[in-house]
Amino acid sequence: MSETFTKGMARNIYFGGSVFFFLVFLALTYHTEQTFPERSNESEMNESVARGKLVWEQNNCIGCHSLLGEGAYFAPELGNVFERRGGEASFKPFLHAWMKAQPLGVPGRRAMPQFNLSEQEVDDMAEFLMWTSKIDTNDWPPNKEG
Ligand code: HEC
Repeated sequence: MSETFTKGMARNIYFGGSVFFFLVFLALTYHTEQTFPERSNESEMNESVARGKLVWEQNNCIGCHSLLGEGAYFAPELGNVFERRGGEASFKPFLHAWMKAQPLGVPGRRAMPQFNLSEQEVDDMAEFLMWTSKIDTNDWPPNKEG
């Protein structure tokens, strides 16, 4: 065996390594795709969740808030607001009270507008935010207050 490291050997390592890691990448991509149905929480989606998403879009909540990291960074992340503000026990009443109380008018604090949503729309919004919080995002956002 030759003691020198030839160009041919370097090329083989380069191409061999590239092909190997590309195959690993494809396998991991395939595996991730396979886990989507259970991670996406799609089996829990219902009419109310879909209506809540529509209310979310029509009122441009994302213009100030982020949802699972996407959106604007003016106001708190809402992907985990369900857990932060009461969970199963009291998130719905919290959201009703919160939406009614806006704008809070506290000096020095960023304000959220009054949207005048109906009881039904806030119920649907609560269902949408509850559903969103149960998507398996590998524990993102990392901080419950985030
Ligand atoms: C103009 C910007 C703006 C828009 C649009 C907006 N919000 Fe907000 N929202 C805020 C701000 C600012 C806060 C934080 C207010 C505070 O802490 O006093 C907030 C706070 C919240 C909270 C409480 C978060 C927490 O951690 O307790 C909820 C829930 C919420 N918004 C829901 C909504 C929903 C639902 C919509 C759409 C219908 C919406 N927001 C649209 C600015 C906005």
